[in-house]
Amino acid sequence: MEVFNLRDFEDMAREKLDPVFYDYFASGAQDEVTLAANEAAFRRLALVPRILRGHGPPQLAGRVLGCESSMPVLLAPTAFHRLAWPEGEAATARAAREAGVIMIAAMLSTITIEEIAAAGGTLWFQLYIQPDLGFTKSLVRRAEAAGCRALVVTVDSPALGRNERGDRNDFHDLPPGIFCANMRGDGNVRQVRLSPEISWRHVEWLCGETQLPVLLKGVLHPADAAQAVDCGVDGLIVSNHGGRQLDTTPATIDRLPVIADVVGGRVPLLLDGGVRRGTDVVKALALGASAVALGRPVLWGLAVGGADGVARVLSLLRGELENALTLCGADSPGALTKDQVVG
Ligand SMILES: Cc1cc2nc3c(=O)[nH]c(=O)nc-3n(C[C@H](O)[C@H](O)[C@H](O)COP(=O)(O)O)c2cc1C
Repeated sequence: MEVFNLRDFEDMAREKLDPVFYDYFASGAQDEVTLAANEAAFRRLALVPRILRGHGPPQLAGRVLGCESSMPVLLAPTAFHRLAWPEGEAATARAAREAGVIMIAAMLSTITIEEIAAAGGTLWFQLYIQPDLGFTKSLVRRAEAAGCRALVVTVDSPALGRNERGDRNDFHDLPPGIFCANMRGDGNVRQVRLSPEISWRHVEWLCGETQLPVLLKGVLHPADAAQAVDCGVDGLIVSNHGGRQLDTTPATIDRLPVIADVVGGRVPLLLDGGVRRGTDVVKALALGASAVALGRPVLWGLAVGGADGVARVLSLLRGELENALTLCGADSPGALTKDQVVG
């Protein structure tokens, strides 16, 4: 099968993967309303090109929170890459490094953050704050020592979303030999705690604990965005966890304008959820995002061809983004304006 776009990769990955693992990657919570909404919302929005701008090819490279990136696309944190490919996150990290983009390494990776760093380029570390703050601190110290350039705290997970595909498949444990490598110590693997006790107090604590920029991932309400900025965080990711947590939350692209309004450019805003086309990236940038992050398409690339598959996914998206910017009359992501998106 020839691959022309990111959606083709999902079809190929479905053919290659164990159906239980495919469902783990593909599924959303409950009725998967949000999962579908993320992509549908991008399709519903229309792009209005500007004409006769008379410039050269668009420049895609820029900086996100001080980190160079060859395009405004990051790899979203996703768990358990060894379910997709034997080398797991090392292959993903290599592809991200080659492509010159930032990888957000998941705390629930199947090799350690140190091993990912050995393979990767610019890394950020995603964290679920654990009620055991001593352990959380030790993870932060490890991420810092491994050279991670930012911490991404996922805040949409006071509990695990209900995944019915997983329940139907009776998929509750990782296969033998695959485990959350960062959680291992003293011969056993520590249980991950997603706790409703985590609050703004913990975010303040974390900001005081580290010199690294701290981003909150999973912001959908403008009041929370405002509080986060007041609290001193350095960036926000508008995200509904790819529809895997609370089902029936709105599509992320539909929340972006209201959040961009309250943030008013004080900190960088990122978005993930349903980004599958260069035109999706353009819509998010025009509506106020500094960059977007890519979740499932990276996993499909990994499942299809390891590092080469991820590299191909990134290069397809880069080509589409360049083409969409050119057709919109923009010589860079920053040249897009919000009146170029109508819905
Ligand atoms: C299989 C899978 C595992 C994920 N694991 C994590 C995780 O460990 N931490 C986290 O913050 N987000 C996690 N996410 C959410 C992604 O970071 C991201 O928000 C989402 O995938 C973006 O949507 P997209 O898949 O439509 O691009 C996961 C998503 C998927 C699909």
